[in-house]
Amino acid sequence: MTDLQTEINTRRTFAIISHPDAGKTTLTEQLLLHGGAIREAGTVKGRGSNKMASSDWMAIEQQRGISVTSSVLQFDYDGKRINILDTPGHEDFSEDTYRTLMAVDSVVMVVDSAKGIEPQTKKLFEIVSQRGIPVFTFFNKLDRDGRSPLDLVDELETVLGIQAYPMNWPVGSGQILQGIWDLREDKLIPFSQERQVDQSVVDEALLEIELQKDAGNQFDEDAIAHGKLTPVFFGSALANFGVEEFLRSYLEFAPTPQPQTTVDEKVVPVTADFSGFVFKIQANMDPKHRDRIAFVRIASGEFDRGMDVTLARTGRKLKLSNVTQFMAESRENIQTAVAGDIIGVYDTGNFQIGDTIYAGKTKVEYPDLPTFTPELFNRVIPKDVLKKKSFEKGIEQLVQEGTIQLFKGWRSSDYIIGAVGQLQFEVFQFRMENEYNSTVIFEPIGQKIARWIPESQADDKMSSSRTMLMRDRFDQPVILFENQFALNWFVDKYPDVTLEEKL
Ligand code: G4P
Repeated sequence: MTDLQTEINTRRTFAIISHPDAGKTTLTEQLLLHGGAIREAGTVKGRGSNKMASSDWMAIEQQRGISVTSSVLQFDYDGKRINILDTPGHEDFSEDTYRTLMAVDSVVMVVDSAKGIEPQTKKLFEIVSQRGIPVFTFFNKLDRDGRSPLDLVDELETVLGIQAYPMNWPVGSGQILQGIWDLREDKLIPFSQERQVDQSVVDEALLEIELQKDAGNQFDEDAIAHGKLTPVFFGSALANFGVEEFLRSYLEFAPTPQPQTTVDEKVVPVTADFSGFVFKIQANMDPKHRDRIAFVRIASGEFDRGMDVTLARTGRKLKLSNVTQFMAESRENIQTAVAGDIIGVYDTGNFQIGDTIYAGKTKVEYPDLPTFTPELFNRVIPKDVLKKKSFEKGIEQLVQEGTIQLFKGWRSSDYIIGAVGQLQFEVFQFRMENEYNSTVIFEPIGQKIARWIPESQADDKMSSSRTMLMRDRFDQPVILFENQFALNWFVDKYPDVTLEEKL
């Protein structure tokens, strides 16, 4: 095995998905504590303190108490290097989450054991499942009265349609929590060292385990690797119980960085020359510097500081000299990184979401990251017409970041922005004002149905009061239909036009 391959094999890159409040932040924090990346709990969200939060830095997040954007955290544990890609908890930012999920090799799904599978978990799981990414399930909040574990596992299988394989089993919950039963070692891991174990609770758990085994699935590493079977863990992130056991098992079974496939269907081995793709662009992470960072998932090879790469979309050569990696409490300038790692490249406006960069002579281009079909639209105009320049710059950058989607009038200079969730508009408006000094006015145009059409079929005549012919930010023709009726009418009138829907 080459040194590079050995190095890559130590990488584990994952995202945590959950319904808001299930305990994603708390679990992330505990994992960082185990890795020695932070020293005290409460640092990640900066709960109740004035400390700058490491995973959500933007003012709007702090104002609203929500996690809007994704960030990256890295730590070492037991000879492995772990990259956690944080995802926004709010459903209005599912687009951002989706793109982040394209950059991971596995997913940890945190479920509140009192609530079971909640809507946002289900929605995110569906996206993960389409890609066949391995999923590891953590039933959290065992220190509170929860639902029966048999019930929870059954719900996991029926609601999500994935097979479950419990790695441990709760022995009681809430007030009577005795611990978890380690199913591989066949022993109790007690919740409290001081308290005497209540044998009746243990017996009940052992009975459940028997029942579960009778009806349960076989452990199958291949099924785990293809996202068909999820190893299931129980614990309490807040009480730091079951977290280390989870982490150890996760590291044992989670996949190392996997080869990626290019647009022309070539599989790029992880040890090939350096290549990577931009899955996120974040401007102004540090208000003092007004910087802009492109987050690149390294798909193959090794990054070396100062290396020359080519941007596949434009063929432009770039030198990667100002690159950071993200540790929990700081951003550090790095020298090297390998496949599986995420690097932050300082960007002066070269990158767009989905861009591929590569070293070497052979062109490598990974497929575009999928976009959602927006459902909410606003016409957007600058309040102060004299400030058109900052208005345009702000829109351009926020669109490149994927904050919102932009549609331009076919013949007019109309700007219409589209979003999946209402909160995206608020973030857009807030950031335009705070970062670009541009107050924007929205003119709601209501819900629309967006469908893309081929350039060759686009025709001025298609525009009407209920059908708006526009261009998206890549200049692709798109029609915004007022409603399903208008869409049906169009299909009848233009039966030969191909209408494409995004996700
Ligand atoms: P999220 O990122 O998934 O949205 O969830 P987060 O970790 O912020 O946790 C949501 C709430 O659940 C927090 O309480 C957190 O303390 C609590 N929590 C997380 N894990 C556990 C657990 O294992 N057991 C129990 N009992 N609670 C847990 P909060 O009151 O909203 O915030 P805070 O006041 O504790 O900061």
